[in-house]
Amino acid sequence: MPKKTSVIGLGYLGVTQAAVLASLGHEVTGVDTDKTKIDLLRQGKVPFYEPGLEDLLNNAIGSGRLRFCDTISELPKEIDLHFLCVGTPAKDSGAEVDTSYLREAMNSLATVIAENATIVGRSTVPVGTADELEAQLSALTSKKFDLIWNPEFLSEGTAIRNSLDPERIVIGSNSARAEAILRDTYREIIARDVPVISLDRRTSELVKIASNAFLALKISYINGVAEIAEKTGASTAQLADAMGLDSRIGRKFLNNGLGFGGGCLPKDLAGFAKFAEEKGSSAFYQMLQSASIINEDRQNKVIEFAKELLGDLAGRKITVLGASFKKNTDDVRNSPGLSLAKTLVGHGAAVVVHNPIPISVKMPTEMAFNFSLDLDEAVLGSSLVIFASDWDSYKKISPEDFTQRVQEKNIIDARSIIQAKEWKSFGWKIRILGESQEAQANG
Ligand code: UGA
Repeated sequence: MPKKTSVIGLGYLGVTQAAVLASLGHEVTGVDTDKTKIDLLRQGKVPFYEPGLEDLLNNAIGSGRLRFCDTISELPKEIDLHFLCVGTPAKDSGAEVDTSYLREAMNSLATVIAENATIVGRSTVPVGTADELEAQLSALTSKKFDLIWNPEFLSEGTAIRNSLDPERIVIGSNSARAEAILRDTYREIIARDVPVISLDRRTSELVKIASNAFLALKISYINGVAEIAEKTGASTAQLADAMGLDSRIGRKFLNNGLGFGGGCLPKDLAGFAKFAEEKGSSAFYQMLQSASIINEDRQNKVIEFAKELLGDLAGRKITVLGASFKKNTDDVRNSPGLSLAKTLVGHGAAVVVHNPIPISVKMPTEMAFNFSLDLDEAVLGSSLVIFASDWDSYKKISPEDFTQRVQEKNIIDARSIIQAKEWKSFGWKIRILGESQEAQANG
């Protein structure tokens, strides 16, 4: 049965959730306190880059099933199913999570909540958050309600596919009634043979953070292996292909390179490590911490390669390709490419960062590198080009495109995306992260 729902918080998760729910036939009111964002959404414009989302949003608005407002108190009173999708960013310490937006949402919901309402948390939260929010709201209202958790597993760039065709739906609940409502809301998705896992709330909160931390560990594992491969005459890319054929290991998230960035993996790894430390699991804490250290270390290898190719970096023009933290997003949070650019600037290089699409934030003026959306301009007169991100458009660049424009023909491929043999035939010197000199000579 179509439901009347709200989606509270309209970031990557919330806008996708709202548009997807409307596409499933539900009547959705999206709410966010950022009025500028609401104005854009009402015009059918998505305030960030997510492939396919603008079409889904416009279809939803056109169908009359998706509306927006800028305060929770404006939500229609008959709504009895609320999805919490507000951000839970890292605090300045990096390892603690700011859940204040969730608590603010509870304060506001208390003023409009219907009797027997169901609240579904989707944000990524520390264990125990659902219990705390429930206690908070119970103290503010006499209405009966259920609060359950349904962690999201969306990746930026594939958010719609991950929502409509997820690998699993996790429901953390202490209420059979609320769980049945949520299952009915997702009925069309579940009918596609999607496994639904029913858990208690704490376990469901932990599933999300443990999954993200595991993905981070997996990437750091292959980056650790890359260090060994570089020193032993081996090729990490070939090794990963061979390892990945073991279905217990799997090939996904075994791409070595500049490491993981974004708003989720670094935050959740750090948060989980802190949690492990607090709980006295010191060996596990160290394992998680090591993953962070390996992640940062890969940048040093690029600097080493750059010095090998150029000698002193001071005054040399270096082009970094890829400002977004990965392809198909305009998000630059914890971007490995930007972090590398800053380090290169610290070595005195004149750095230009290119991205195929405009980025989500205005580059701060104190950033001592130039930003360009024009690839030709970005490489003009460059002494070194670094492939820092895996955008498909970068994979299509041919040596002819760059050979006439650069000052010196040097490449560091930090994402294993170029056809080294072809570039070498045009006289380029190439260093590939995770590949030994021997493997590079053969490649
Ligand atoms: C991540 C998780 O993958 C999602 O499942 C989760 O729902 C989401 O966080 C979240 O918590 O909301 P996302 O941050 O969009 O998704 O990015 P990922 O696709 O996980 O990539 C993270 C970083 O790892 C990127 O910098 C990427 O370049 C890097 N990466 C990924 C590698 O270096 N190697 C790989 O093999 C895969």
